[in-house]
Amino acid sequence: MPNRKSRPQKRRRRSIIAFEMIRLDRTATEPLHEQLYRQIRDELKSGRFSDGSSRLPSSRTLATDRGVSRSTVRLALSKLHAEGYLRSQPGSGTFVANLLPETFLTADQPKTDQPVQRLARISDRVRAIPDARVGNQFDLGATGAGPGVSLVASIPAVDEFPIAVWERLRAQVLAKKGVNLLRYSSNRGDVDLRKAIAAYLCDFRAAHCYPDQIIVVAGMQQAMLISAMAVLNPSEVAWIEDPCYQQTRRVLSLAGVKIIPKPIDNQGIVIARSPKEPLPRMIYVTPSHQFPLGVTMTFQRRTALLDFARAHNAFVFEDDYDAEFRFVGPPLPSLQGMDNASRVIYAGTVSKILCPGLRLGYIVAPEQLIDSFVKIRSAMDQHSSPIDQATLARFITEGFFLSHIKRMRKIYAERRDFFIKQFNELLGDRFTLQVPEAGLNIVAWLKREEDFPMIKRITSDIGVRPPALSFFCIQAKLKPAFVFGFAAWTPTQIRESLAKLASALSNRAKDLNHGRQSR
Ligand SMILES: Cc1ncc(COP(=O)(O)O)c(C=O)c1O
Repeated sequence: MPNRKSRPQKRRRRSIIAFEMIRLDRTATEPLHEQLYRQIRDELKSGRFSDGSSRLPSSRTLATDRGVSRSTVRLALSKLHAEGYLRSQPGSGTFVANLLPETFLTADQPKTDQPVQRLARISDRVRAIPDARVGNQFDLGATGAGPGVSLVASIPAVDEFPIAVWERLRAQVLAKKGVNLLRYSSNRGDVDLRKAIAAYLCDFRAAHCYPDQIIVVAGMQQAMLISAMAVLNPSEVAWIEDPCYQQTRRVLSLAGVKIIPKPIDNQGIVIARSPKEPLPRMIYVTPSHQFPLGVTMTFQRRTALLDFARAHNAFVFEDDYDAEFRFVGPPLPSLQGMDNASRVIYAGTVSKILCPGLRLGYIVAPEQLIDSFVKIRSAMDQHSSPIDQATLARFITEGFFLSHIKRMRKIYAERRDFFIKQFNELLGDRFTLQVPEAGLNIVAWLKREEDFPMIKRITSDIGVRPPALSFFCIQAKLKPAFVFGFAAWTPTQIRESLAKLASALSNRAKDLNHGRQSR
């Protein structure tokens, strides 16, 4: 019995207490009825009144309490009625609705009422991916490059991409192929694109392939993932270069593969192994231009690698990510073109040639692997965008691809020469540049190893952030160095950021000297 009495009292008290919090500002531009509506709505949304039995004070009481006219109160309440926050019960008054609209939209409950979040059980697969970043830091993209002139490695000059041409070709293919480009399409890729890629690779990368060997993929990472999943069982061994493109290690970890890092010498990946070392089923290499050291794999090492793969029934994964940008001598033929035993899985990407945002790449599969690769792609994500694929096919067949490469090679050569000259003038006392024959990056070795922590701190403070070479190392213990990118920025931007770095370093040196003298 006492319960029956106390409950309605509690309900009434709740309503009155809440509405006492309402504050109306007569000087504000927002009309009074809107202010009243908004504040009552927010009180109701707080969730404290959602039991369907909370009654509102009468409009007369509300008007008197808040010192406004009854029509102001009526306007506010009728809006709340219309939006489903209130219900009228004839003879009894106005009540909070049983189900507030927010129940269907966003639950706006006070945070303290929410159940404590438990840590999700995460699979070993996720834990195996080497990456310590979490939360907001995690969405920086592979390079971690923020806006501005960061001189981060491996970024192409996307502002030189011919967007107008691309848009025109895109409109043309859409007009011609229409809804056919909106359907699910081939897991191998657009047939015209596969023909165009095969012709390009035979003509310009000295590859030996035909269109049926080409599988269009979503960039190099997907090429690696598909290849690893097709040829390696979990825990089987893949060799990778050390130092290595950081995504390779992450992708192969995702595939559950056991990674053995192999050092790089001045000929490329070192093949020699100790008798106890397990044999690899796949060997990842960047023969045209080793990432990040820039070594071009010699003919002898290429032959030795192919012989090793044939002898041990292994596949070589050739990542040919930026061979188009070679500045000294003629372009080198691909490893795939030298292979006469179907041991090379060749993969290319448009990320450096055109732009990374397209997420398009291609595999040249050894014949015996074609079906397995296609099977995996079909289970993975079916295919890349048919519209982008058809546009790229046109872009290649109409000659824009080659002319873009030619134009970019010239721009990059100029930027590279400019970077080297400026760098040596401004920072030559602290670093020695190791200038590669190809690619969009240059390694700068420290002349005084002890400067490393100071330079690392300063580069991150001033936003000129070439990654440390150690970022790409697994077991390799190399002397301290930074990997500078030069391709994505104009000569003026390059000069400004190198000057900024040089002046920050010399200011720091002066501070240190001053500190020593005053002690
Ligand atoms: C060695 C190497 N391969 C491939 C890529 C590009 O991969 P994706 O096609 O996934 O963008 C990069 C990008 O920096 C790279 O450094």
